[in-house]
Amino acid sequence: MHIAALLVPAVLCANIASGQYVIPAADGSNGWADALAKAKTLVGQMTTEEKLNITQQNSAFPRVGEVDRLGYTGLFYADGSEGVRGAPFSSAFPMALNGAASFDRNLLYRRAVAIGEEARAKGINVQFGPGVNILRTPGAGRAFEYQGADPYLSGQTAAEHVKGVQSQGVMSMMRHYIGNEQETGRRWTSSNIDDRTAHEVYLWPFQDAVQAGVASTMCSYNGLNGTYACADNTSLGKWLHEELKFQGWVLSDYGAVVAGQEANAANAGLDSVIGAAFTSYSDSPAPGFKYPFGPSSVLASAIANGTVSEARLDDMANRIVSAWYKLGQDNGFPALNTSTNALSQAHNDLIREIGSKSIVLLKNNGTLPLAKNKSLYVFGQAASVDLKGSPYPVSFGFAPDADMGTFLGGQGSSYVSAPYVITLLDALAEQARSQGTQVFGYTDNFNHTVQATYAAAAITADATCLVDVRQTCSEGYDRQNLTASWEGDETIVAVASQCANTAVIYSACGPFNVTAWVDHPNVTAILNAGGLGQEAGHSLVDVLYGVVNPSARLPYSIAHDLGDYAALPDFTIKAQNTSFVDVEYTEGLLVDYRWFDKNNIEPAFAFGFGLSYTTFDYSNLSVQPSTATLDKFAAANSTELYDCLALITIDITNSGTVAGSEVPQLYIGSPADGAPVKVLRGFETVGLDCKAKKTVSYNLTRRDLSFWDTYNGGWTLPSGEYKVYVGASSRDIRENGSFRFTLK
Ligand SMILES: *[C@@H]1O[C@H](CO)[C@@H](O)[C@H](O)[C@H]1NC(C)=O
Ligand SMILES: *[C@@H]1O[C@H](CO)[C@@H](O)[C@H](O)[C@H]1NC(C)=O
Ligand SMILES: *[C@@H]1O[C@H](CO)[C@@H](O)[C@H](O)[C@H]1NC(C)=O
Ligand SMILES: *[C@@H]1O[C@H](CO)[C@@H](O)[C@H](O)[C@H]1NC(C)=O
Ligand SMILES: *[C@@H]1O[C@H](CO)[C@@H](O)[C@H](O)[C@H]1NC(C)=O
Ligand SMILES: *[C@@H]1O[C@H](CO)[C@@H](O)[C@H](O)[C@H]1NC(C)=O
Ligand SMILES: *[C@@H]1O[C@H](CO)[C@@H](O)[C@H](O)[C@H]1NC(C)=O
Ligand SMILES: *[C@@H]1O[C@H](CO)[C@@H](O)[C@H](O)[C@H]1NC(C)=O
Ligand SMILES: *[C@@H]1O[C@H](CO)[C@@H](O)[C@H](O)[C@H]1NC(C)=O
Ligand SMILES: *[C@@H]1O[C@H](CO)[C@@H](O)[C@H](O)[C@H]1NC(C)=O
Ligand SMILES: *[C@@H]1O[C@H](CO)[C@@H](O)[C@H](O)[C@H]1NC(C)=O
Ligand SMILES: *[C@@H]1O[C@H](CO)[C@@H](O)[C@H](O)[C@H]1NC(C)=O
Repeated sequence: MHIAALLVPAVLCANIASGQYVIPAADGSNGWADALAKAKTLVGQMTTEEKLNITQQNSAFPRVGEVDRLGYTGLFYADGSEGVRGAPFSSAFPMALNGAASFDRNLLYRRAVAIGEEARAKGINVQFGPGVNILRTPGAGRAFEYQGADPYLSGQTAAEHVKGVQSQGVMSMMRHYIGNEQETGRRWTSSNIDDRTAHEVYLWPFQDAVQAGVASTMCSYNGLNGTYACADNTSLGKWLHEELKFQGWVLSDYGAVVAGQEANAANAGLDSVIGAAFTSYSDSPAPGFKYPFGPSSVLASAIANGTVSEARLDDMANRIVSAWYKLGQDNGFPALNTSTNALSQAHNDLIREIGSKSIVLLKNNGTLPLAKNKSLYVFGQAASVDLKGSPYPVSFGFAPDADMGTFLGGQGSSYVSAPYVITLLDALAEQARSQGTQVFGYTDNFNHTVQATYAAAAITADATCLVDVRQTCSEGYDRQNLTASWEGDETIVAVASQCANTAVIYSACGPFNVTAWVDHPNVTAILNAGGLGQEAGHSLVDVLYGVVNPSARLPYSIAHDLGDYAALPDFTIKAQNTSFVDVEYTEGLLVDYRWFDKNNIEPAFAFGFGLSYTTFDYSNLSVQPSTATLDKFAAANSTELYDCLALITIDITNSGTVAGSEVPQLYIGSPADGAPVKVLRGFETVGLDCKAKKTVSYNLTRRDLSFWDTYNGGWTLPSGEYKVYVGASSRDIRENGSFRFTLK
């Protein structure tokens, strides 16, 4: 699309008409018509400077672009995938990745509602998240902010997050758009993703968030095929604005607009920025600091000389202001006060519940649930507060548990300083007091002789041993290995060498190296805790004692060897300063379990795996494809993509002796050329009393069953046999079937 010639000075027409791309203006589709009409009325009364004013934010917690004379309040932003970051009296929720591990849509929705409530209470208009980048490499530094390794799971999770936060009248912001799968060189690497992989894997969850009505998007630091994501007319323009018809607004990640790219960014679809411009292909702010957008900015001069049209500026303002109307923020939205106490017992209880429902039970040889009358010996510094002695609660910024002590969540810009922390030892002591049993704690990780001595004493006392370890992780760094920090492996082995009944609990931001002890005969239970937030100890105790029967599932695979994973970052790369360093997504569609399937690699623990204290039977798989004659092809922005083309049902029975929840997963093996062996296309959380049975059904949409047809630029249903697998993990398929369509 070309800028209408009348809008720019004649002398510049040739320049612009020569191929400068400009996104289509918001058109009010997808239910945005009323909000857009109101925005146009308001923005129509703004001066150019006022419009420019709402396109930038340059310091922490400012109000962005208020126009008091017109009653437009401007916007306040808060970071955080784990709660409202940067403000006192905010709850520290379990990590987003823990939410995904619950595989529980209702729980994800309630988590998001609570985060939205806290944001709203403080007068925060825009809460950053959901993060929907894919866990492409196992140590990805921001994986804790995301939803795991599968696009379908990420998309379903993102949709619940958006609906929950926005139910409180707070804008959600999906991020980091797009291709920001690694922290290593995030400002100077180019993620080179082919068109089909982009649509079927990396763009997929963003599409679900758009479908759920997300108000805003954050573009990422990295490049794509050698163009900065925030200035890329393919990903921002063609995919987000033309194909997905996104009606909201786009914000840059902090400092993600590079000097010289301001006009390209504006034309490609960027509406607002935070932070200063950076120097290309480096980690440094641009010298001779200039704001990329805002009054007196490079954007302002690009508008003055016609490189960016006034119409595009109007569209920027319309998109931002229409989101404000769409969320009802023009009417009774609380005034900003980050000090407002947003804490509540209801949120503490919810955090405890999300925590317990996001702990994945990986191994259990009769050890769990713990008997209430047995004493415990607890090892590992992660069971206690920070050994370095930092007190809780803590102030703003990077966290005191950065390295040692109870692990609440990943570090970096999403970290919420917890108002209080329940450690494992706190919670066990509470439990022991009520049971009249003993809890002995030795949490020094470095003296393995003493550990072994106490572990032997545990056996003499007929006690169970618990070892709590962790691995630190943060935004800004990818984990180069997945091994427990602070001699955690040595601690586990020292304890298990003496204690025949050793339960291991570990916390990390994703896949963990379990190789040194997973098959140790005395390691009789393993719990993957992730980052549980402020109620960590309580959530663990609920699972350890069976108050909550574990039901979470791994949202990624755990490999035996690091080399088993499809992709690892090149940790030796250095900024070239003159061009991007290319990161080729050569594994294509074969992310995570799809790679293990294709290459017949046995994982230590498969994607979707998680044990329960009960057992479940699967029976009566039924497959009902549409019997109509179907068109093969659907355009990228066609509403037909959401038509239901097949219905799968299965009966799940609790065959064990206690109540519990199963997560039956539906995988489809597509007949399309190059399709993975199977891909996740459905999951449900089914709570069942002992011996109870329930029928679970999955609707498969056209989008679920199509492949991205690069040649036609849309979604095509392949002809042939579609394989149906329903199981308890990607490697534990209990029933299978197949179907075909009649296509024209
Ligand atoms: C993106 O911009 C470049 C350079 O202006 C242009 O060559 C290309 O055709 C544009 N892409 C689209 C999708 O319009
Ligand atoms: C621009 O916004 C700032 C706050 O973000 C405000 O103080 C200032 O008055 C605004 N200027 C105009 C021209 O609206
Ligand atoms: C990057 O290049 C590949 C290969 O040409 C293409 O399929 C893909 O659509 C491009 N992506 C972007 C964002 O330009
Ligand atoms: C659908 O997307 C294409 C780009 O893929 C765009 O050219 C077209 O205008 C869109 N159609 C509608 C109805 O939005
Ligand atoms: C217009 O202004 C922008 C921003 O200052 C500048 O980069 C560009 O070179 C200018 N173009 C012309 C034709 O003057
Ligand atoms: C903000 O909230 C705090 C805590 O409730 C209160 O003490 C303070 O007075 C409030 N500030 C304003 C400006 O209302
Ligand atoms: C471990 O602790 C014991 C008892 O306090 C002490 O004798 C020994 O030197 C310690 N070993 C190490 C390696 O610190
Ligand atoms: C893992 O990486 C950390 C941080 O780089 C390093 O300190 C540690 O020694 C590494 N561990 C192993 C087992 O390589
Ligand atoms: C397991 O623990 C018992 C003591 O309870 C010990 O005798 C045995 O050597 C341990 N096994 C291993 C493999 O360390
Ligand atoms: C579980 O424990 C029993 C003995 O209690 C032992 O025979 C069996 O090998 C153990 N299984 C695993 C997987 O460790
Ligand atoms: C675990 O650590 C061992 C020993 O360093 C290594 O050989 C293996 O590849 C690691 N596995 C994973 C999944 O990181
Ligand atoms: C599945 O599709 C059928 C038929 O279109 C519809 O009646 C039903 O409500 C759908 N179920 C779900 C869970 O979406």
